[in-house]
Amino acid sequence: MRVGINLHQKTLQHTKCPFLKTFNINMTSEQAVSKYTKFCPYLHYKEMKSETKKCPIEHSQFYNNQFKGVIQQIKDEGRYREFKSLLRTNGEFPRAINKTPTGDQPITLWCSNDYLGMSQNPMVTQATKNAIDLTGIGAGGTRNIGGTSIYHVELERELADLHRKDSALVMNSGYVANMATLDTLGKVLKDVTFLSDAKNHASLIEGMRATKRDRLIFKHNDYQDLEQKLKQLDIQQNKVIVFESVYSMNGTVAPIQQFINLAKKYNALTLIDEVHAVGMYGERGAGVTEKLGLQKDIDIVTGTLGKAFGCSGGYVSANSEIVDAVRSTASNFIFSTSMSPIIAAACLESVKYLKSHPEIRERHQYVASLIKAKLKSKGIPALNSASHIVPVFIGDPLLCKEASEKLLNEYNIYIQPINYPTVPRGQEILRISPTPLHTEEMIDELVNSIECVFKSLNLKLESQYTAEQRVIFQ
Ligand SMILES: Cc1ncc(COP(=O)(O)O)c(C=O)c1O
Repeated sequence: MRVGINLHQKTLQHTKCPFLKTFNINMTSEQAVSKYTKFCPYLHYKEMKSETKKCPIEHSQFYNNQFKGVIQQIKDEGRYREFKSLLRTNGEFPRAINKTPTGDQPITLWCSNDYLGMSQNPMVTQATKNAIDLTGIGAGGTRNIGGTSIYHVELERELADLHRKDSALVMNSGYVANMATLDTLGKVLKDVTFLSDAKNHASLIEGMRATKRDRLIFKHNDYQDLEQKLKQLDIQQNKVIVFESVYSMNGTVAPIQQFINLAKKYNALTLIDEVHAVGMYGERGAGVTEKLGLQKDIDIVTGTLGKAFGCSGGYVSANSEIVDAVRSTASNFIFSTSMSPIIAAACLESVKYLKSHPEIRERHQYVASLIKAKLKSKGIPALNSASHIVPVFIGDPLLCKEASEKLLNEYNIYIQPINYPTVPRGQEILRISPTPLHTEEMIDELVNSIECVFKSLNLKLESQYTAEQRVIFQ
């Protein structure tokens, strides 16, 4: 009985998540994700192992307390996530309807990753309708067991061509594509070491961690630090440099040429995640590597079909040996029902369309630069992003949420607050994602509304930060 009571007490302590207190604002996203996903199961497992006697509290309460404790902690920190229920009327984007308990609210979307509005492109929606009439909805199986349609095959051909590679493989999401690719690299490349950018996305971090191979984390976009890490490894050892082209939260762009040079010098493979760049950069929309003329020098590209291409799904593209290895060994690809052929048909049309419409990309970049300039002119602390992403620095989770709510409730502008763990604590932002469909009038409305919210909440303008603090804006 005593053991049982001890267990109960321990469990209650556990619900207060003492481990959460060990996070700090200086952590990289790599470190934060690793802690965040590890602490609960680990503690619980340790406690259960030593317990054999009957638990003194009812079993559903025993478990629910643990979930409630975590949720309460998240709420106390102002980072509880509340989903908006949106009706995105076809043809109206970026206008939408926010369905609230008190009625319909017309809003302007300023945080969508439907970066180019392709989800409502008439060619894409028509291709989807044609496919559904022709073939129905579901894939009907894994890729190996009846789940490969003509659309999957053609989409993969189109993506391989986009990236100037031999081959491509489509998955159900960009997240799965990253996990599957890294899983294969971990299995195939003996004793591989991953060299991972400190700000890599959760799907890359989890993908590498799952392989249980060594990981060396280099400072964000810092090729000198990467070189120091590479020097530690034998030239004959398998190694993969894992990074993104455009970082989705701060909008920074990787020094791709320098990374390629190092990969050649130290005999490393390169894996670039172009999730926030495909469709948007380069002559045909293949990403930053295309824009820089570096497509041939990168070994493996992963991308999404759910952001600029406006549909859903993800993919990996590389030489035929690598893609064949992923196809043949990645568990989450092999044992999962394939993407719906309807979605594959939509993606196919979207990829084809964007290949031949560079003017959409030009307008996108123009809108982004216009917003940045207008915010700067008002002293709003917009981070100096080199991409289409416009992060407005707030630096406090509760104020960030309040600013977002004010924009929505008083100005009908929807920008989701971005808090921990998506960004490190103390680096909370309002992340604006412009599209080519935002008009000049919408842009003025946005900038004026942000200015009013900054005034009413007494938020710090750029000039009110010290030079030291302003480093974060670079
Ligand atoms: C850098 C990066 N990679 C991969 C993904 C996952 O892509 P998807 O949304 O298609 O799962 C995301 C999603 O936001 C991302 O930001």
